[in-house]
Amino acid sequence: MSERIASAELAGKVMSADEAAQFINNGDTVGMSGFTGAAYPKALPTAIANKAKEAHARGDEYQINLLTGASTAPDCDGVLAEADAINYRMPYQSDPIMRKKINAAEMKYQDIHLSHSGLQVEQGFFGELDVAVVEVTRITEHGHLIPSSGVGNNLEYLDSAKKIILEVNSWQSLNLEGMADIYQVPHLPNRTPIPINNVGDRIGTPYIQIDTDKVVAIVETDAPDRNSPFKEPDEVSKQIAGNFLDFLEAEVQAGRLSYDGYIMQSGVGNVPNAVMAGLLDSKFENITAYTEVVQDGMLDLIDAGKMTVASATSFALSPEYAEKMNAEAKKYREHLVLRPLQISNSPEVIRRMGLIASNGLIEADIYGNVNSTHVNGTRIMNGIGGSGDFTRNAFASTFISPSVAKDGAISAIVPFASHIDHTEHDAMVIITEYGFADLRGLAPRDRVAKMIAVAHPDYRPLLEEYYERALKAEKSFQQTPHDLKTAFDFHINMIEKGSMKG
Ligand code: COA
Repeated sequence: MSERIASAELAGKVMSADEAAQFINNGDTVGMSGFTGAAYPKALPTAIANKAKEAHARGDEYQINLLTGASTAPDCDGVLAEADAINYRMPYQSDPIMRKKINAAEMKYQDIHLSHSGLQVEQGFFGELDVAVVEVTRITEHGHLIPSSGVGNNLEYLDSAKKIILEVNSWQSLNLEGMADIYQVPHLPNRTPIPINNVGDRIGTPYIQIDTDKVVAIVETDAPDRNSPFKEPDEVSKQIAGNFLDFLEAEVQAGRLSYDGYIMQSGVGNVPNAVMAGLLDSKFENITAYTEVVQDGMLDLIDAGKMTVASATSFALSPEYAEKMNAEAKKYREHLVLRPLQISNSPEVIRRMGLIASNGLIEADIYGNVNSTHVNGTRIMNGIGGSGDFTRNAFASTFISPSVAKDGAISAIVPFASHIDHTEHDAMVIITEYGFADLRGLAPRDRVAKMIAVAHPDYRPLLEEYYERALKAEKSFQQTPHDLKTAFDFHINMIEKGSMKG
């Protein structure tokens, strides 16, 4: 382990996770590393959860406010939620236990655009940050931190916190060193342009510089990241992927895209991985990704010589690919750049890139408003994540989804979205297994037929009936016709009868 903590000053601060947890008090605001199952602290969350359980058993209060990069894993968000150790959480989560607690009002959750989260920490929106708990691969002799499998909001947390606890994880490959590109965006009001012109540009250092006097504890760990495995693409995923590739072909035919140099952003999931599998056999070459997370399919594209470079803030790899990364990090670091979240998701850079964004959805309405976060308008699923950062700023913003969920009981295309994360002004192309609805250049009424064409055939007549009703509804104007009395019938049917069909 000594090779992992080369600073003599910091090596003297090694202690157990339980000892380190004593620095975290009831009511503290804690900024942790962690992004989509990667780079989260592996030991402190359980130690904090145990502390909370002991306090609660004594009848004492013990809860923290938890800020991270994005979602973490069962041994971080899961154990903390289960122990009722969290009062407030931001900016993104996807843990089933935590989701249940949030939806039962047993903890508070603020769902924030990821590009905003670090800036809001800097600006003190969450009050003072008491402790930063950050996983690293190695600490250099000068006390610089080599990030592990993600960067997220680590700079902001390390900079703002009064105390720092570091976890040095020997499971993470030492060959990750050199993958991160750490650049501090100057604080407001002294901002300057972020000098990234090409996806692979490196503009910073491979390490994070900290005030080592703030380090109160170092904990050694050896536990793997806990990313979820992907399912093998099913028939529907393959059809959606095929339609996405047809959309790309149409862009080439329209002269807006070339087979050489397509820049992608891709949300996580089985369908995005199916898209990447499709790209392996496509005419597209020299693909790059200016995106939030590195996924399995990107490693396959790199291995096949189809992708030259991907810029992200973290990995979101299946367990199998995480092991592959660990074994071959030296090779992959030539093709991957891990950046702070404020840069991976920077609207300024995303606009400059002219990329094509692609994210999942819960539902979209007949005019193209998209709900990414709330089932039936009230039950939070995960959060908006970076989908808003990319959707509003991409050259073309697409959403990909099966046309139905829960064995057909739920339609992904509805009359009126029950919660709107991406407005009709931002969402451009909606893709299901039935094709792609290209809404660009169309006024709201001209979008309706295109949206209904990508809905599941079972729901098309119901959507057509709704639109007819909306056109004739009393006191409804014709720019965006709605029949407000029945606009949520799909959702009400779901609640009352278990199916949107009613
Ligand atoms: N009502 C109820 N449940 C729904 C639903 C709806 N309208 N639409 C999807 N679901 C359920 C699915 O049934 C599935 O449930 P399961 O896990 O029990 O099988 C789950 O949501 C995931 O849906 P899936 O179709 O597999 O797509 P996904 O994994 O791509 O997830 C989102 C879709 C919207 C939940 C996901 O993309 C997300 O959280 N997006 C917001 C953040 C984001 O876009 N991040 C990327 C930006 S960089």
